[in-house]
Amino acid sequence: MLSEKLRRARKFEKKYLPYTVKELPFFHVTGGIGWINDPNGFAPFKGEYHLFFQYYPYNTKWGPMHWGHVKTKDFIRWERLPAALAPDTDYDKDGCFSGGAVELPDGRHLLMYTGVRNVRRRNGKLESFQTQCIAIGNGIDYEKIALNPVIDASMLPEGGSTHDFRDPKIWEEDGHYYAVVGNRSEDDSGTILLFESADALHWQYVSVLAACHNQYGKMWECPDFFHLDGCDVLLTSPQEMTAIGLEFHPGNANICLIGHLDREKHHLVRERVQAIDYGLDFYAPQTLKTPDGRRIMIAWMQNWETSSCAQNDLSFFGQMTLPRELTVRNGRLCQVPVREIEKYRGVKIDYRNVLITGETSLRGIHGRCLDMTVTVRPGNENSLYQWFRLYVARDGEHYTMIRYKPGTGTIKVDRTHSGFPHDIVNIREFPVTAGSGELKMRVILDRYSMELFINDGEQAASFVLYSPQAATAISFASEGAVLVDVEKYDLEIREK
Ligand code: FRU
Repeated sequence: MLSEKLRRARKFEKKYLPYTVKELPFFHVTGGIGWINDPNGFAPFKGEYHLFFQYYPYNTKWGPMHWGHVKTKDFIRWERLPAALAPDTDYDKDGCFSGGAVELPDGRHLLMYTGVRNVRRRNGKLESFQTQCIAIGNGIDYEKIALNPVIDASMLPEGGSTHDFRDPKIWEEDGHYYAVVGNRSEDDSGTILLFESADALHWQYVSVLAACHNQYGKMWECPDFFHLDGCDVLLTSPQEMTAIGLEFHPGNANICLIGHLDREKHHLVRERVQAIDYGLDFYAPQTLKTPDGRRIMIAWMQNWETSSCAQNDLSFFGQMTLPRELTVRNGRLCQVPVREIEKYRGVKIDYRNVLITGETSLRGIHGRCLDMTVTVRPGNENSLYQWFRLYVARDGEHYTMIRYKPGTGTIKVDRTHSGFPHDIVNIREFPVTAGSGELKMRVILDRYSMELFINDGEQAASFVLYSPQAATAISFASEGAVLVDVEKYDLEIREK
């Protein structure tokens, strides 16, 4: 039986979604209407990949969280499905927060999420209780189970917060189920707790898998934990990060801890820590494993810091990144666009060894829905160039600029002139492997975004852009001689 709240959301979607189709990104997931944040339940189910998301259909601002729902066969074309969860029970009346999903052996689809229940105290203050809950369904309709909540405050280690206790990511391994959940400990900073279950319904606490100890931000949200290329990898999104060099920026950040799981203590022995994405818009990533063994990650291509900076004339807010294939290479988490995007490459334009010494544009190199790789190297044996700049989404007034300085080994992306009507941080700088002035940049553009991948995925950086769609020009500039190769494909993923 669908609740009144869920039926209302589905009715609202049916009525308003058809009006928004023409303004949506071509291949990045949005809610179609309303607000979205974190990806949820990103997992294979019956031969397809399902993706849910934090969703408030009625407004482009955050509200009581529902779960929106889409699915795909190839990570590029998505089919929209009706809203899956609404905050309609006593234990989740104030929101169905983030979580994960698995396919059960009997073919049913299990969603595990955080139920939020706020209680107003006598002093007027709101106290929030977060517990982990389950809904089971057939890929479209889901029912919350009678056992809910399946993980509650009674299972917390001593000192664990009942208020910051959320975002279960569930997975199955050798017929057993595990979940990592974000929590806050006595020292006021984040811990990632590990739970286990034999049947995915009855859960018990195992260990503190990793702890922040006030080193990387405060509360750690949206954890994900997996084995990749001989390492154990933990992704999480810290709140209240303070800047560390050019690696971590302040505010809501994202980090990756790489190490090895101590199988006796069930604790991640940390060897390296890095940012996952170096752009302005990336949070709460979640991964899945494909049947052919790839680890694919998707994230909210937005950040809480700028989440009130919507474009007034769009009827949706928030989008997901392009799904990305992860590897660990030389101890670093690397990521490249999911290979399925290559099936959608149309016309190719190719240039080799073009000498750039001032500002240049190249015939045929323009567009707003494209996949372009630009490789640069010094054009003069005796003196290294000062900088190289790539401008995209350009017209007389707008541009988004990527600048590489070989001397400092840094990239700076500036989207000040990319259509944002808000005085927010629009520049991000980050380190890249400083070679001898050689660098490969892959740029994926869709209507409202640019995703940048450096040196086959050593770094990735995501940016929301609101430049007008007619801003399609691309140009190249340098101080000093640079030789450039350009390979550009239009992406042909338009609605019929
Ligand atoms: C992260 C987050 C999660 C929470 C959700 C609420 O972006 O704060 O911790 O589950 O958003 O929408």
